[in-house]
Amino acid sequence: MTAAADAQLQLIDRLEASGALTPDWRQAFLDVGRHLFLPDVFWASTGGGYERCDRAESPDRWMELAYSDVAIVTQWDGGADDGQREPTSSVSMPTMVASMLRDLDVRDGHRVWEGGTGPGWNAALLAYRQGAHNVVTVELDPAVAAQAAANFRALEAAPTAVVGDAADGYPPSAPYDRGILTCSVREVPAAVIGQIRLQGVLVLPFAPLFGGGAVARLTVSGTTAEGPFTGSSAFMRMRQQRYQAPPVDDYLPGDWPGDAAQEHTTLSPLDVVDDWLAAFVVGLALPDLYYRRSDGDGMTTLWLFDTAVTSWATVDFVDGASRFEVRQSGPRRVWSEVEDVVRWWEKEGRPGFERFGLTVDGGEHRAWLDEPANPLPSARG
Ligand SMILES: C[S@@+](CC[C@H](N)C(=O)[O-])C[C@H]1O[C@@H](n2cnc3c(N)ncnc32)[C@H](O)[C@@H]1O
Repeated sequence: MTAAADAQLQLIDRLEASGALTPDWRQAFLDVGRHLFLPDVFWASTGGGYERCDRAESPDRWMELAYSDVAIVTQWDGGADDGQREPTSSVSMPTMVASMLRDLDVRDGHRVWEGGTGPGWNAALLAYRQGAHNVVTVELDPAVAAQAAANFRALEAAPTAVVGDAADGYPPSAPYDRGILTCSVREVPAAVIGQIRLQGVLVLPFAPLFGGGAVARLTVSGTTAEGPFTGSSAFMRMRQQRYQAPPVDDYLPGDWPGDAAQEHTTLSPLDVVDDWLAAFVVGLALPDLYYRRSDGDGMTTLWLFDTAVTSWATVDFVDGASRFEVRQSGPRRVWSEVEDVVRWWEKEGRPGFERFGLTVDGGEHRAWLDEPANPLPSARG
């Protein structure tokens, strides 16, 4: 056995042992090699940073990374070389790909729609399993779509690949039994829900504006989609759902702290934003809040804002402190709202991702704990 085949087998065994890969997907993972979807130069997301790897320089490392359980960035900044360095396309982490396919629960003959083709590994796995004619995948970025199309040409079973906006679904082949998004959303596109059959399943990474993210497994019933989150996730955002924050001056025209009186909190702001789950819970409960942080001089200031541009707050984190200075301004007390949600979550025993769920109904999003009848605090009115 070659070193590559050995690495592939080891990865598949690990994915199966962890429960991410179900036995019905094993053959597809064996026959649709991940390395076939990787460009010669990529950036592997290893140990908190990105490792650049060039196949010509390090062929063994390249193959090792191809069969490591890491996400691999294949495009930055939408292909623009503007030094921003934001990842805009990737081959997702194998654990994530396997567990989302598990959640999708496809059956023979099911027709599947995917939004966010990227280099095409996930769509190729689906086409292998479901048959080429049953799989449609949509990619917004023409350069990424061209890369995927080239990758698909080498396959026996290639999906229908469309260049377009996944927010529109793909009406010509609808309805679908299953839908899967591989870029994250904070609003589930209504058009996508509308193209899934009654009792069909839609799997997607949901990432509130505030932070955190988790995979949602939604069952569709007409214009409603509802279901639990199945686990943590970190995906790049659907491009048009990125948030362009207004300038701070729009909130605070004069000098800080403006009219904001001094208050204190015992909740560390970093315990909220540096905790993927805590940030997710806040984001679910308060979908119109976001934050920015500024680090410097042994102190971190967390700035909180509402998207309606009515209110802001700052909270200063100082290392070793047990009380933190708060300033809040505007009709909403945005830090107090965040703190209330975190205190509620703590009182509930810090429930994990899997205990939360989401109902999307005619454009409205309602998050809940354990069951739809138990909405998160802010949704209680
Ligand atoms: C994480 S990558 C996809 C991973 C891929 N499915 C795989 O097999 O591993 C996310 C992709 O979503 C694409 N994307 C972002 N916004 C989109 C949109 N509105 N419509 C279609 N694709 C979009 C990005 O260009 C990127 O290629």
